[in-house]
Amino acid sequence: MAFKGLFPPPPIDLIRELEGFGRLLAEVMPLRAKHRSALAGQIRALSAYLTIDRDQLPPDYMNQPPLLSAYLHYFLPWNLYRQGRLLAGLDLHIKPGSQIVDLGAGPLTFLLALWLSRPHLRGEELRYLGLDRGETVLKLGRRIFRQLSGQ
Ligand SMILES: C[S@@+](CC[C@H](N)C(=O)[O-])C[C@H]1O[C@@H](n2cnc3c(N)ncnc32)[C@H](O)[C@@H]1O
Repeated sequence: MAFKGLFPPPPIDLIRELEGFGRLLAEVMPLRAKHRSALAGQIRALSAYLTIDRDQLPPDYMNQPPLLSAYLHYFLPWNLYRQGRLLAGLDLHIKPGSQIVDLGAGPLTFLLALWLSRPHLRGEELRYLGLDRGETVLKLGRRIFRQLSGQ
């Protein structure tokens, strides 16, 4: 069997959905004009917090609307792309009835990436438990999942 590599090319479903993801986000979490104009600066700030200024990262950053917006509009699509590619290449065998526990789930990124990259699992009976210290981000993730999956 040929080795596919850890990050195979992205599945077509993932690409298609990511192309429309900006529109989906705009429905789930519309950005007010003042937040839109501040977005680039907030993305820069969050990027620094998550890397070089990690010791200054506010524990409740996902509860701060400007940083939450930065996460949803920049980091989430990137993470979906990367996690989606990773999941597409893994030799995954998730048994029907399994429970997935996602600690620090944020906007349910893992669940969204699984949905986008492993369509054959969509009809399986799986339970997913996403935990995060941010309540709003979990609710938004749930709305994004509902919108994406039509459930
Ligand atoms: C970098 S984000 C990653 C989110 C998501 N897993 C993803 O891949 O996009 C880390 C998440 O972990 C959450 N988190 C950090 N420490 C936590 C804790 N002690 N208990 C619960 N959630 C936590 C944060 O609120 C944030 O949503």
